[in-house]
Amino acid sequence: MPVRDQIGRIDTTAVRHDAGRIRVALLGLGKVGTAVSRLAARSDIMGPIIDISGALVRDASQRPGACCPLTSDATTLFDSGPDVVVEVLGGTEPARQLVLAALERGIPVVTANKTLVAAHGEELLAAAERGDTALRYEAAVIAGVPFLGTLARRPLAGSIRRIEAVLNGTTNFVLSELEAGAADLCTALADAERRGFAEPDPSKDVSGTDAAEKLALLVRHLGTLAVATSDIPTTGIDGLTRLDLLRAIDFGGTLKPVAFADWSDGSLTAFVGPAFVPLTHPLSNLRGADNGIRVHGDHSPPVFFAGAGAGPDATAATILDDVVESVVPSDRPSAWRDRVGRRCCPAPLGRAPWFVRLQSIDRLPALDVADLFASYGVWMRRTSETDRRTVPSTTWLLTHPCPSASVQAALTALSSATGCRASCWPSLERDSD
Ligand SMILES: NC(=O)c1ccc[n+]([C@@H]2O[C@H](COP(=O)([O-])OP(=O)(O)OC[C@H]3O[C@@H](n4cnc5c(N)ncnc54)[C@H](OP(=O)(O)O)[C@@H]3O)[C@@H](O)[C@H]2O)c1
Repeated sequence: MPVRDQIGRIDTTAVRHDAGRIRVALLGLGKVGTAVSRLAARSDIMGPIIDISGALVRDASQRPGACCPLTSDATTLFDSGPDVVVEVLGGTEPARQLVLAALERGIPVVTANKTLVAAHGEELLAAAERGDTALRYEAAVIAGVPFLGTLARRPLAGSIRRIEAVLNGTTNFVLSELEAGAADLCTALADAERRGFAEPDPSKDVSGTDAAEKLALLVRHLGTLAVATSDIPTTGIDGLTRLDLLRAIDFGGTLKPVAFADWSDGSLTAFVGPAFVPLTHPLSNLRGADNGIRVHGDHSPPVFFAGAGAGPDATAATILDDVVESVVPSDRPSAWRDRVGRRCCPAPLGRAPWFVRLQSIDRLPALDVADLFASYGVWMRRTSETDRRTVPSTTWLLTHPCPSASVQAALTALSSATGCRASCWPSLERDSD
């Protein structure tokens, strides 16, 4: 068990490497890699000294005055005998091959790369097992909030069965801005890019793919279920308007870019996409680029974690904590292993309340809509509509809980009877909220 001194620093004599120094090889020296190297230079505050012994870059000659020795040859880097490899390249290749090579050599690997872990987590965990070493990825999801390791080390608190989360800061920022007054999605997205919250190409954020990768990682880590990102039903935020957000407020909630998974009955239900979140739910309070996750376990009421989802410095701090943990002997060495999951294909959400939008040239008679919905077993709870003179006329509804198939059938019937355009998003409301 790691020994700590009076102020909680790890006793470096208990650390399994030379003279309390941890030699780290960096794969990638972009925004996060540079922040890791900057923070490592002040690592004496953590206990062990962390030396960045070298970094892999594409072309070392292009980086005069770099913070550490550079190479474009990964073998040279691994041969130099680092205690830990930190992968911050992004993407799947060459990250996958390099991480596998390090693990096969028995070198612990810390990564912030959710794309890599979501796509190849099983293969990497098996390699870590074979190399009798560790793979850690705390910074890959909600980088600034260290909750994965906390739950992994505490099996009772960590016996999670359901996740409700906002895992993408860009889309949360965009929807918050729309709610606060931005004219449309493009304006809010441009603002996010200007403030550094969005990547130059935010398509993976807007489409929900980024959040789906993180959800696949979480389901594997917390549920030991191996899910392909592409199997998770995923909807982008691009169908939403400012008026949708304002009507959601009228209905006592807000629209959030939600990632949801539930495996409480043994089978997995999951989705990523906009959802109605009641104001009683902690996710509704997440503003700007913040992320959050509410986990429901077997043994205690739901627990909520929230904070910075990204940012080079917050990510680097979490990475360096992972670095120290991966070389300090642990009293629970298997906590981050034994996580190779059972293959599983998630079902879309079944029964839920639904937030519905109907757009038509002519005003839809409310009673007729209610009758038609009722004939499919869909009962309306709240309705709101645009000014009668606005074209197209838009009506928003919040339904009582009903099966997804019923609401889809009702919307299809209404569309073919009236020519209206119908959209719906699930609601996270539960009796307990
Ligand atoms: N930024 C954040 O706040 C944040 C938060 C959490 C997690 N992450 C994750 O951290 C990872 C890194 O993110 P980042 O923001 O630091 O990205 P970034 O600034 O684009 O850095 C990636 C670096 O890797 C280098 N690279 C890519 N392929 C390479 C190769 N084949 N050989 C050598 N170098 C190569 C790139 O070099 P070039 O410059 O030459 O292309 C770049 O310098 C990603 O997986 C990301 O998802 C980032």
